[in-house]
Order: sequence, then C-alpha cells, then structure tokens
Amino acid sequence: MWVFFLSACAGGAAVLYVLYSWLIPAAVQYNASLALLWHDVIVERVLDRITGSTRPQRLLRAVQKKATQGDPQSVIATIDHFCRHSEWAMNVQLVEGPSGDLIPQMKELFGVQTFDFVFLDHWKDRYLPDTKLLEECGLLRKGTVLLADNVICPGTPEYLEYIRSSPRYESRYFKSHLEYTKVEDGLEKSVFLG
Ligand SMILES: C[S@@+](CC[C@H](N)C(=O)[O-])C[C@H]1O[C@@H](n2cnc3c(N)ncnc32)[C@H](O)[C@@H]1O
Repeated sequence: MWVFFLSACAGGAAVLYVLYSWLIPAAVQYNASLALLWHDVIVERVLDRITGSTRPQRLLRAVQKKATQGDPQSVIATIDHFCRHSEWAMNVQLVEGPSGDLIPQMKELFGVQTFDFVFLDHWKDRYLPDTKLLEECGLLRKGTVLLADNVICPGTPEYLEYIRSSPRYESRYFKSHLEYTKVEDGLEKSVFLG
C-alpha cells in the first residue's frame, strides 16, 4: 500500500516537474498571450507564495549569489541568465502620459506601493510639483532615492531650493557637464528620510 502511494507521489511529482520545466515553457514560446499568462501570472504568483518573496527580490538574490562584485558585465550576464532560465523578467513597463495625471494613479492602476528609485528627467518645471505629488500620494518611502538630472542646465532652481532645505530629504549634488560640452550641469541625488 505504502509502496504504491509513494510511487504514485513520485510519479506525479515527476510529471509536474517535466510540465513545469520543459513542456509548458516550450509550448508558450509561440504564443505571446500564453507566455504572459504563464510567466507573469501563474509562475510569478506561485513562486511569490511559495518563497514569500517577490520576483525582484529573487533576482537580487541571484545577482548577490552569482555575480562578481564590481563587475557590471557579470551582473548583466547573471540577470540575463536568471531571465532566460529561471524567471522571465521584463525590464520595464512603459507607461505613457503626463506625469501629473499618472502619479496619482500608480497604486490603483499598477499596484505600485512605493518607489525605490525615481529618475527625474522630464520638463524641468515639473520636477517640484511632481515630487510634491509623489509625497502626497504616499509613493515615497524611507530610503527612496530621487535622482534629478539637469539641475543646473537648463536648471531647476525651485526644485533645488525645496529639496535642499526640506528636513525630509538628505540631498547631494554631483557636478557634471551638459552632454558634449564643457558647460556645467549636474545631478541632485536626494534620499527621502520618511
Ligand atoms: C529630456 S527627455 C529625457 C528622456 C529620457 N529620460 C532619456 O534620457 O532618454 C524628456 C522627456 O520627457 C517627456 N516629458 C516632459 N514632461 C513630461 C511630463 N510632465 N509627463 C510625461 N513626460 C514628460 C518629454 O516628452 C521628453 O520625451
């Protein structure tokens, strides 16, 4: 009885393993909707549940374990390997529209709770209102990094004034040049303190 039960379990596990590792991934190669469903809905949710972690966290762990520190090429190769052989990770989700309209909808439409990193490189007069909007919408957490480009040229004086004087940020300027010139420009890195 026990022998039968154990061999049935082993057989079932073997079938599931073959399905999960080879058959389904091979079958979804030819259909974009099935591929999205399999990778982005089924596999991701199951692994999130089983491991108690998110896909970005699993990717980060793979990089920490396998890539060589200080070697960007090895980091990229590890990410590539993870995406091809372990889990399918798309690098970006492109969202089109005015930032002032999209920021308030980030939670509702895309499930974004808070940002780890925000790169500000759009119209310069939007840096300050969009930063305040990110704050109001609760999209910044302790440690969120805002990196603002071109803070000198064309320049964002109101943004710099705000971010440097606010006790909610720790801010630092990184001097650079406007591309292909010797004109000073720079980036402002600001860490949200909560
Ligand atoms: C200087 S480009 C930089 C784009 C990108 N970061 C890069 O390096 O290629 C600025 C872009 O931001 C877009 N943009 C400006 N203001 C925006 C806003 N309020 N909402 C969304 N996009 C905006 C512009 O249309 C333009 O494509």
